[in-house]
Amino acid sequence: MPLREPVICPVSVATGRLGNASGRYEKRLSDLLGLYEDSAAFEAELNRDDRVVYEVTDYRPSADAGDMIFGVTRMSPGRIGREYFFTRGHIHARADRPEIYYGESGQGIMLLESPEGEVRALPIGPRDIVYVPPYWIHRSVNVGDDDLVMTFAYPADSGQDYGIIERSGGMRSRVVASADGWALADNAAYRLRAPAEIDALFARSR
Ligand code: NI
Repeated sequence: MPLREPVICPVSVATGRLGNASGRYEKRLSDLLGLYEDSAAFEAELNRDDRVVYEVTDYRPSADAGDMIFGVTRMSPGRIGREYFFTRGHIHARADRPEIYYGESGQGIMLLESPEGEVRALPIGPRDIVYVPPYWIHRSVNVGDDDLVMTFAYPADSGQDYGIIERSGGMRSRVVASADGWALADNAAYRLRAPAEIDALFARSR
């Protein structure tokens, strides 16, 4: 079997990008329509500047089981109303696949939700590793005043399922500004997943 060639991909903390990346994408405010609590504030901000909320540069050697994808996320600081900028969020299509995030700069929250609706919010700063276990929905939130830059890695055959969040009316908790910096607030539109959907989630992983 031919071996793949080893590579080195430098992480630029200053630009929040991976060198030697094989792919890049970005999400602007307009890509996040309907996800924020305050739709009037969202529209006002969108009309002011449809800016980049986050960008991802990654290296994908393959999609083979046993291989690995890794990259860097750079998230801009900002809020829509009281709610901090966040990534769209997902569960892995093969839901039993894990992920790690390593804080490079800035202050973030890794917001996690189990299929049954348990919520965890883990602060991530420079030199912190957050482990996202299998079966947890995950979303990154920038709660700082500067760019949040994180390196990540996950199994190459994980895939991403974004629909799981849409089907439940969003994630159960929102990360909002408070007197102490940040706090969790209930998402009023959230609907618990039906037992059948949870069973299917656990069943579809192989
Ligand atoms: Ni992921």
